[in-house]
Amino acid sequence: MKKALILIGSPRKKGSTATLAAEAERGLKENGIETKTVFLNDLKIKGCQACYWCKKNDVAECAMKDDMQNLHQLMKECDGMIVASPIYFAGVTAQTKAWLDRLFPYIGMDLSPKMPPGKKVSFIFTQNQPDARLFATPIATFMQMVGLTGLPVKDHMLACDLDTGVKPPVEDNKKVMEQAYHLGKNLIQ
Ligand SMILES: Cc1cc2nc3c(=O)[nH]c(=O)nc-3n(C[C@H](O)[C@H](O)[C@H](O)COP(=O)(O)O)c2cc1C
Repeated sequence: MKKALILIGSPRKKGSTATLAAEAERGLKENGIETKTVFLNDLKIKGCQACYWCKKNDVAECAMKDDMQNLHQLMKECDGMIVASPIYFAGVTAQTKAWLDRLFPYIGMDLSPKMPPGKKVSFIFTQNQPDARLFATPIATFMQMVGLTGLPVKDHMLACDLDTGVKPPVEDNKKVMEQAYHLGKNLIQ
């Protein structure tokens, strides 16, 4: 049975990002894919300490013994990933950025990717601002950086005009809910 790992970078377990990620999970499950969802906010993940242990030893492993160890294992074992984050101050959340920095072991000094091949990643982003163009550049840069590890980007979506508890719930927006469902359904063929 193929496995998908869903990483959620929002601190809200019932926010718009988690709701869209759950729709993507529904799509994955309909394809018979086993899923595991991890809220990054539940984990203790320090920022990269720039010790260069992974580089000196030329390994796709990290010297820091925190919750990222388990996540490294889950990433290596899965057949595809979905990373979902709200936009905070024009970028991904701090939790998501800490995760990205800790992907350093998967990038060689010559920028060669070290992630075991054969898995793709799709992204879900949410933001309050209605204009989808506003943060297009930081979003594209984030996806490109994840891609450097050897995780080819399969798909991404951005749901705008969302503010949990203040604006209409994301469930009311059938278009983005369907988009998230299909993003999940198409991740692993
Ligand atoms: C600290 C903070 C910073 C935010 N910065 C932005 C921003 O720069 N641009 C934007 O459009 N929305 C911003 N938002 C709004 C969230 O991105 C948006 O409401 C998102 O859908 C929240 O996702 P959630 O419901 O999963 O928590 C910010 C929210 C917070 C709490």
